[in-house]
Amino acid sequence: MTKILEMYKCNVCGNIIEVVLPGAGELVCCSQPMEKMEEHTISEEMYGEKHVPVMEKTQEGINIKVGSVPHPMEKEHYIMFIEANSADKRYVKRKYLYPDEEPVLNLKCSCDKVIARELCNIHGLWTSDDEQSDDK
Ligand SMILES: [Fe+2]
Repeated sequence: MTKILEMYKCNVCGNIIEVVLPGAGELVCCSQPMEKMEEHTISEEMYGEKHVPVMEKTQEGINIKVGSVPHPMEKEHYIMFIEANSADKRYVKRKYLYPDEEPVLNLKCSCDKVIARELCNIHGLWTSDDEQSDDK
C-alpha cells in the first residue's frame, strides 16, 4: 500500500512519480517494480549539511534554502526541486530548479510548521523532518 506524497523511481528510464492518493497496487514502470525513494535526514546521512533544507521565518512566510552549506548548482550535479508540505500534508508547493539557479523557495504563508523536501540529481531525496515514522 502506497502512502500520500511517497516518491518512487524507475531504475530503467529514470521516471520519478509522487503518490497523490494512495492505493494497494504495485507501481510498475518499464516492466519492473518502481523503487521507493527514501527520504534522507541530517541525523543519519553523510552530506546532510549540503542537502537538508534549512528554513527561516520571514514577515511574509518562510524561506527554504537547500543546505546550511551551499549545494552545487552545476549541470552535472544540482537540486532538481524544493517542495514544501504543510505538517498535515494537506498543502503542497513545489519549485523546479535548473543548473545555475539559487536553490531557494520563498513560501508565502502563515503556517507554523512546514516540512521541506528537496531532490538532488545525484544524492536523492532529502527532508527537513527528522521525525520519520511509518504512520505518516
Ligand atoms: Fe548533491
